[in-house]
Amino acid sequence: MKIASVVGARPNFIKLAPIHKAITNFSDHVIIHTGQHYDYKLSEIFFKEFNLPKPNFNLKVGSGTPGFQIGEMVKRLEKIFLESHFELVLVYGDTNSTFAGALSAVKSGISVAHVESGLRSFDRYMPEEINRVLTDHLSDYLFAPTQTAIKNLQREHVFGKVFNPGDISVEIVKVAVQLSSKSLILNNLQLVPKSYILFTMHRVENTDSAESLISVIHAFEILSEVEIVFPIHPRTLQMFRGKNMLERLEECKNVRLIQPVGYVDFIKLMQNAKKVITDSGGVQKESYLLGIPCITIRKNTEWVETVNEGWNILTDTDTNKIVNATRDWMPPATIQMKPIFGDGRTSLVIKNSIMSLMP
Ligand code: UD1
Repeated sequence: MKIASVVGARPNFIKLAPIHKAITNFSDHVIIHTGQHYDYKLSEIFFKEFNLPKPNFNLKVGSGTPGFQIGEMVKRLEKIFLESHFELVLVYGDTNSTFAGALSAVKSGISVAHVESGLRSFDRYMPEEINRVLTDHLSDYLFAPTQTAIKNLQREHVFGKVFNPGDISVEIVKVAVQLSSKSLILNNLQLVPKSYILFTMHRVENTDSAESLISVIHAFEILSEVEIVFPIHPRTLQMFRGKNMLERLEECKNVRLIQPVGYVDFIKLMQNAKKVITDSGGVQKESYLLGIPCITIRKNTEWVETVNEGWNILTDTDTNKIVNATRDWMPPATIQMKPIFGDGRTSLVIKNSIMSLMP
């Protein structure tokens, strides 16, 4: 069976890793990198950490407006699809590369399978929300990670066949935890376990709003007694700089601004953090799996189960809410976390589903 995976951004590579391992024995699996992320620390490092082969194709689309990125990807993918005769194209998550991969495949007459399907924030301002909805309605096979995701797909009467294999992060986090015993990140940054907060922010609705950036800096200033480790995404750095706020951020002596880190180091940082503050979807899941309280600086979340279980709290970028949650909020005492993301056999179930479906 000839299968292609289209990936392009950091969260796509992470989800690709276990799927590649599961399907590579029974299929001719071709990896197509759109080039959406091109910095070593947002791209190549993940291929190295997870022993993924070098992509068979790199379309080198790079940065640009959504129209440019998606348009160029669709065009360049079409050329490969028309020549290579794949039976199935796999896409992952909700990035521009995900949607472009699905659209180009469908237009080339190839079946599409979407890994991490059915997530909704119901926030039409989020670029990822549009990518999710469109990708789901283009897909023939939809692998939904949670019960909420399945209900979302049923309500929208999607065309394709829906499966519930659980969430792929359970497997990746397990592997990363094993590898993290070798990580030197705590020593290198001289961090004491459970003494710091891990912070990430890269969503357009936060980074592109001066108000949100100020609100976050203000929270950092009030939390001067708390050490905050902030691996900063290139777009976030650009926005702080562009809105003349980088200096004020750098003046927060409690904030350790560091470059983006690889997955294993990131999991090590998360495992040893007191709490996590984030606007990332992946980090909300990973912190739940690691039993680390998560403060989400968004108005809504797709991962409602983590909130329902009491391990994730939504504060938006409201300064007071961030400060209070950082200082005072704690999840309920839990002996064992509920397996809301499944039993860690997601890649196997996806592999078996693909094998049984294809002619
Ligand atoms: C993308 C995804 C987002 C995902 C995130 C993870 C979309 C719409 N968004 O957001 O869902 O959570 O990746 O990181 O697909 N840049 C670099 N180096 C790079 C890549 C980007 O400097 O390797 C800079 C560029 O200036 C670019 C900006 O970051 O303009 C934004 O990059 P882009 O790929 O458009 O979206 P992300 O914000 O990374």
